[in-house]
Amino acid sequence: MNLRQLDEKYLSRSSDPENIEVIKTKGSFIYDAKGKKYIDFTMGWCVGNVGWNNDEIRRKLKSFNGPEYVTPHHLYKSWVELARQLAQITPGKLQKSFRATGGTEAVELALQAAISHTRRHKFISIEGAYHGDSIAARSVGSPDFGRWHPLFPCYRLSPPLDEACADSAEKWLKNRDIAAVIMEPVICNLGVLIPEQKFMERIQELCKKYGTLFIVDEVATGFGRTGKMFASEHFNLEPDILCVAKAITAGFAPLGATITTEEVAKSMMSHETGYYSTYGWHPRSVDAALATIQFLLKHQERLESNTLDMGAYFSERLNQMNFKGKVEINVMGLAIGVHLKNKNYGEDIVEKARRRELLLSESDSGFTMFPALDIDFKTAKAGLDIIEDCI
Ligand SMILES: Cc1ncc(COP(=O)(O)O)c(C=O)c1O
Repeated sequence: MNLRQLDEKYLSRSSDPENIEVIKTKGSFIYDAKGKKYIDFTMGWCVGNVGWNNDEIRRKLKSFNGPEYVTPHHLYKSWVELARQLAQITPGKLQKSFRATGGTEAVELALQAAISHTRRHKFISIEGAYHGDSIAARSVGSPDFGRWHPLFPCYRLSPPLDEACADSAEKWLKNRDIAAVIMEPVICNLGVLIPEQKFMERIQELCKKYGTLFIVDEVATGFGRTGKMFASEHFNLEPDILCVAKAITAGFAPLGATITTEEVAKSMMSHETGYYSTYGWHPRSVDAALATIQFLLKHQERLESNTLDMGAYFSERLNQMNFKGKVEINVMGLAIGVHLKNKNYGEDIVEKARRRELLLSESDSGFTMFPALDIDFKTAKAGLDIIEDCI
């Protein structure tokens, strides 16, 4: 049996894998077993923000000589160091970290913390959103994910995300039974949907007024993706809870974190809800997160400026292309969404691009791109030329 047949026999998947057997990654490229070299405009969907197999981070991780495991009940210096740094770099009054293994668990903890803190169990999210694959995360995600078994009531705000949309949430918030509003600050899962500043201001104001917490899910947008360390910064958000994962370790190891204010964290302790995670913040993952954050801070200026320049270049080129039918292009830093006349057209472009050794990500209404923040002009141009040929 070949690898594909063995994969089909032993791995459970929700869709067929792409026929790319990865043997090596470097920078903006993925190499496969057939000798193909793909330009990666997806970077594992916001994981490889600092380029695959980043030399500086890899070198640092090689010298790791800490314990192979620390039980969650013990003390560990690097946990405190990572939590301290997260408190420092995240917006507002976020201070305490919950240790998770990835994005879904980080969202799960955020929802639990909101229930525990408010003693309420209803939520508000954005129509069509995605926040992970556990039943609770699905319950605040698109009804496509949650309708089959929602754990709690969740009301949905329908885009456009403008002031009127935020106002419309008051009819639910005023009952004072909503634990939290949860959303991505720039919604990568909806083709990089960018809320209006007024929406953000109003929804935060209403949350405060009615004792509802504001959860921002920065699992995809965190660590430079939108041109700032966190997308919340574009809107001066002061969330009560912020979730991170994906790019926090540059792909070297799994890790997630739920960072909350002191008050929210306190309520989790006093209600003894329990949030033990055996592998949450494994020492090697924490080492990878510390090395990645160090890299991001050291090169922050260069990365932010490249993200803005390259984002502008992607925007300019895409806007000049002759896509069939009506097209809408959303760009925030290097989070890029192309909305096309229909899903099939998007799938067709993604498939053709893959045959030309360029990786894009299908979305409900077209395709999305999340290139490395340090992508160079030559690689960006080569990928965009392929898209132009495929449309
Ligand atoms: C916004 C958002 N939240 C949560 C998740 C879940 O993260 P993970 O796949 O690490 O569980 C994802 C995954 O794509 C995501 O995009």
